[in-house]
Amino acid sequence: MSIIDRFIAAVTPPESDEARLDARTKATAAAMPGDWLDQILQHHMDLEDAFADVKAGADGASRAESLQQLGILLTGHAIAEEAVIYPAMADEAQKGHAGMGYDEQALVKVQMALLEKLNPMSQDFMDKLEHIEGAVRHHMYQEEGTWFLELKERASVADEAMLTQRYQQEYERYVGTPSLA
Ligand SMILES: [Fe+2]
Repeated sequence: MSIIDRFIAAVTPPESDEARLDARTKATAAAMPGDWLDQILQHHMDLEDAFADVKAGADGASRAESLQQLGILLTGHAIAEEAVIYPAMADEAQKGHAGMGYDEQALVKVQMALLEKLNPMSQDFMDKLEHIEGAVRHHMYQEEGTWFLELKERASVADEAMLTQRYQQEYERYVGTPSLA
C-alpha cells in the first residue's frame, strides 16, 4: 500500500466525540501542571484551534497564513514527540505504540505538503484539510486515551523530569518561546 493509501485507510475515525472527550479528561487528570503531558495537552488544543482558524479564513490569503501557522505548530509538536516521547515509549515496552505514532505523523506531514499545493479556497483543499484534521484527532485520541497514560504509569520520577524538560526544549527550539506579555 502506498503512503497515501495508508493515510486514507488510517483516517476513518472509529471513536465517538464522547470517547474523545473521555480520553482527554483522563489524560488531564493524569497530568501535573507544566509536565510533559500537560504541555502536550495544551499543544493538542492549540492544534484544534489552528485547524479551526484555517477553516474560518474568509479569503485565500488569510487561509494560507493560518495554514502556515498550523504547519509550524504541527511540525514543532511532532518533532518534540518524535525526539523525546516516542523513544521513551519504545524503551518502556510500548514499541508498537511508538511505531504507530511515528507512522501516523509521517502520513500527516506528507498530506500537509500536498495540501499546501492546493488553492486554499477550493473544495479539494477543504476536503483534504478535514481529512488531515480527522487523522490528527484520531492520533491525539490514541495518545491521550492509552499511549501516554501507559507511559506515565511506567516512567520513574527522574524519567518524568527528563521528558518534561526535553519535550519543552525541542518544541520551543522549533516553535519559539511563548511571549510573557
Ligand atoms: Fe501529540
